Amino acid sequence: MNNFSYFNPTTIHFGKGQIASLKDELANYSRILIVYGGGSIKRNGVYQQVMDALSQQQVFEFSGIEPNPHFETLIQATELAKQKEVELILAIGGGSVIDGCKFIAAAACYQSDAWQIMETGGACIEQALPLGCVLTLPATGSEMNKNGVITRAATQDKLSFGSDLVRPRFSILDPEVTNSLPAKQIANGVVDSFIHVLEQYLTYPVNAKVTDRFAEGLLLTIIEEGPLALQQPHNYEVRANLMWAATMALNGTVKNGVPTDWATHAIGHELTALYGLDHAQTLAIVLPALWRYKQQQKHAKLLQYAKRVWQLDDANEQQCVEQAITLTEQFFNAMGVASKLSDYQLDQSHIEAVIDKLTEHGMTALGEHKDISPEDVRKILELAL
Ligand code: NZQ
Ligand code: ZN
Repeated sequence: MNNFSYFNPTTIHFGKGQIASLKDELANYSRILIVYGGGSIKRNGVYQQVMDALSQQQVFEFSGIEPNPHFETLIQATELAKQKEVELILAIGGGSVIDGCKFIAAAACYQSDAWQIMETGGACIEQALPLGCVLTLPATGSEMNKNGVITRAATQDKLSFGSDLVRPRFSILDPEVTNSLPAKQIANGVVDSFIHVLEQYLTYPVNAKVTDRFAEGLLLTIIEEGPLALQQPHNYEVRANLMWAATMALNGTVKNGVPTDWATHAIGHELTALYGLDHAQTLAIVLPALWRYKQQQKHAKLLQYAKRVWQLDDANEQQCVEQAITLTEQFFNAMGVASKLSDYQLDQSHIEAVIDKLTEHGMTALGEHKDISPEDVRKILELAL
């Protein structure tokens, strides 16, 4: 097992009616900026619940954070936060709104060009406004981690940053608010959270038994509950289990003591920035192809995954591994997320730009062994055509 340091100070309020706990959480703040997306919170009653809980505070609003949040939009919200001298940012939404609010929280305290936050991966952040979250879409784990992913639309750059200073102070997870999600977003969340676990699990063995078995537990839960969320959209227990699984998938728990990959995410972010695919769609395309390309290096973990997660016991190890990759791809497809570039009208001619962007962003040595070069990415994407 590898060495690790683990820190996660975010308070979680989980369950029905928990939005009311905002009252206590925010008792010591008087000027609050609430930030949300395109308006789903107004249609499903979440906005009203939040406003009811904030009756004692002076509340300012910024709406219109788009999926894959744009730097250009966030800068406007940052100006509002500064102008109104707000004391706390309250994000109400999915990963895009929460990531956007992490950026706003840091940018509001940053004196120079705020894009430097992205260029330095968050290293230049020395101060940030406190952040709280009301999560409406279980997927990214942003509600309990220190990372954000921001897109500069003008240049098609989608970059990540991270800082302990932007970790949410608290996050409210009420599974009932996910009832209004369209099937496509439920599916995206299932695929994204599943792949978060896999990017931290499917590398090479280091005998980290606790972390491996936590990861396998999350994978089994997501396989069990994902399809049920589509079949029984109003099943609270299903929503609750998926919501907590998605948070646990990327809050540091399954990173402890193990190597991590993240090549699928790096490649996927470029596909979104260039061609506008949803985050989860890009991952469903890249992951199976990357596994096929790196099958030998990942053999031991693929076999463990085949046996423990898919219960495959074929004596032929090679067949077991291949079957596990196929079952994974079928799982994404069964959720309604297609897993080939051609499913999204992309072909060979779209690969070069991905390679160029990865190179421009210095992403030239990806994966747990840092041995995936841009040329390897080309071959991986060719396997996904
Ligand atoms: O904007 P509104 O109207 O709220 O609609 C949103 C949006 O259109 C809608 N939605 C959210 N909750 C809803 C709802 N609709 C009905 N009912 C609800 N309860 O869903 C749409 C998508 O929302 P978005 O926040 O974009 O989705 P997601 O949570 O999947 O976030 C994706 C973003 O997170 C980044 C991705 O790259 C992408 O930019 N990621 C962040 C990570 C992190 N911070 O750790 C890690 C991830 O790997 C990922 O990269
Ligand atoms: Zn993701």
